[in-house]
Amino acid sequence: MSDTHHTPEAGAAPATSAGSSQPPARAKGEPRFPNGPKADPAGSHFERRIRSFQPRRSRVTTGQADALQRLWSRWGLDIDGQRVIDLPELFGNARPVVLEIGFGMGEATAEMAAADPETNILAVDVHTPGQGNLLALAERKDLSHIRVGNGDAIILLREMLAPGSLAGLRVYFPDPWPKKRHHKRRLIQPEFLTLAATRLAPGAVVHCATDWEPYAEQMLDVLTAHPDFENTVPGGGFAPRPGHRPLTRFEGQGLDKGHVVNDLLFRRVPHKELPPTG
Ligand SMILES: C[S@@+](CC[C@H](N)C(=O)[O-])C[C@H]1O[C@@H](n2cnc3c(N)ncnc32)[C@H](O)[C@@H]1O
Repeated sequence: MSDTHHTPEAGAAPATSAGSSQPPARAKGEPRFPNGPKADPAGSHFERRIRSFQPRRSRVTTGQADALQRLWSRWGLDIDGQRVIDLPELFGNARPVVLEIGFGMGEATAEMAAADPETNILAVDVHTPGQGNLLALAERKDLSHIRVGNGDAIILLREMLAPGSLAGLRVYFPDPWPKKRHHKRRLIQPEFLTLAATRLAPGAVVHCATDWEPYAEQMLDVLTAHPDFENTVPGGGFAPRPGHRPLTRFEGQGLDKGHVVNDLLFRRVPHKELPPTG
């Protein structure tokens, strides 16, 4: 893994059509998708933050580019950290909103949204091809209750979501950052949970899954120790994989390598006071 950071745009190779590997000519500074996601929506406002995502160079297909251009203004959200979002206005209704952080290519997101039309899904990633892919899936499957966020989910949570506004949080196969010196970049940490807890309504469920066992243990430890969450599993421990979570792309790759997948389901509870000491 590299420590260099790229914006989502910079990290994605140019869109190509079949038979052509040359990107269309573009003047310096000209946006890649004039009607699509911004290259770095939060810009320099929050530039000293530790990022939980890593750069990925992957091609934007013509279909994904087309979806970004046509659908971004309707279903896309640039995470610029500059305002608190009115969620009923964003979705056009006041149904519960679940945040998914790191949807990858979005296949599992679309499948879960199709199975639950009454729950609005705010799906966030920095990965431009995935954003295009999920927009295309949402259009094809008529999933008008999905919104696609572009940028860092930490900024979204901290700067753009009102307290108690989320009915749930999904984090499926977050980047595992296996090297010890990179552990600080793992998303599921006490500080992240404290922030997330403020944005979750009481009773909201945090659902995490990972195929990286040391990270699964870390998730279990920090969620169990956190005063704002309780395990939905009586007696504690990992949860059986719920039937409503489809196999994700990264999960499939992990299973092919013989990895063990663990799910964690914790509920947001009113703050637990620790017993006095001494
Ligand atoms: C290992 S991939 C898993 C993707 C998908 N959930 C799956 O299982 O196939 C993790 C994804 O989380 C995204 N990600 C990590 N940290 C993020 C953050 N702070 N904000 C938005 N996306 C993030 C990465 O860009 C990446 O696409």
